[in-house]
Amino acid sequence: MQSAVLRSIDGYEIRRCMPEQMGQVIDINLRALPEHYSNDFYYELLEGFPEGFLVATKGESVVGYIINRIEFGFSNIKGFSLVKKGHVVSVAVLEEHRNKGLGRILMEEGMKAMKEKGCKEVFLEVRITNSNAIALYNSLGFKVSDRLRHYYRDGEDAYLMVRSLEQSTTHE
Ligand SMILES: CC(C)(COP(=O)(O)OP(=O)(O)OC[C@H]1O[C@@H](n2cnc3c(N)ncnc32)[C@H](O)[C@@H]1OP(=O)(O)O)[C@@H](O)C(=O)NCCC(=O)NCCS
Repeated sequence: MQSAVLRSIDGYEIRRCMPEQMGQVIDINLRALPEHYSNDFYYELLEGFPEGFLVATKGESVVGYIINRIEFGFSNIKGFSLVKKGHVVSVAVLEEHRNKGLGRILMEEGMKAMKEKGCKEVFLEVRITNSNAIALYNSLGFKVSDRLRHYYRDGEDAYLMVRSLEQSTTHE
């Protein structure tokens, strides 16, 4: 069973992730990214913010996902004010399904869900060499707000990228 379609593009559909689809999500993560998590962590994130845990499907197959979390803390945009903010924990699309707009739509739908939960901004960490992902985030209005030294286990730095949610979350 799959959840309702939120958006569709060229035979692909964006939906909320169902627990039965978690195996496919974990498999995509293992194939697409060096950052992995325990199985329990995925289910915790799904339970914590199901509206922000989305999959891209083609038929019954999951071909991409985005996992978001809602956090509360200091603003990355407005100095020392405390805000509710969305954190993009992980996003990936299987290689053979990339460059078709799925990454963008997963990001847009994730930000929409964050906004509906009252988040004022969204942030993420990205490897400084991940030019495809950085290009996507730039085109969605994210800006680099910091460089996190040795953020990843292999020693690579991350860019902390941030975007306000007090503006439209779709690509214009
Ligand atoms: C990052 C990722 C999720 C993008 O997914 P995608 O479905 O290919 O993205 P889209 O098709 O929506 O591309 C959107 C934008 O990304 C950028 N982009 C994507 N692939 C690109 C490429 N090969 N070269 C340059 N820019 C690229 C472009 O800005 C593109 O904009 P456009 O629509 O105007 O062309 C995908 O490349 C991926 O899974 N990478 C491996 C996992 C990863 O690095 N995740 C991010 C961790 S922070």
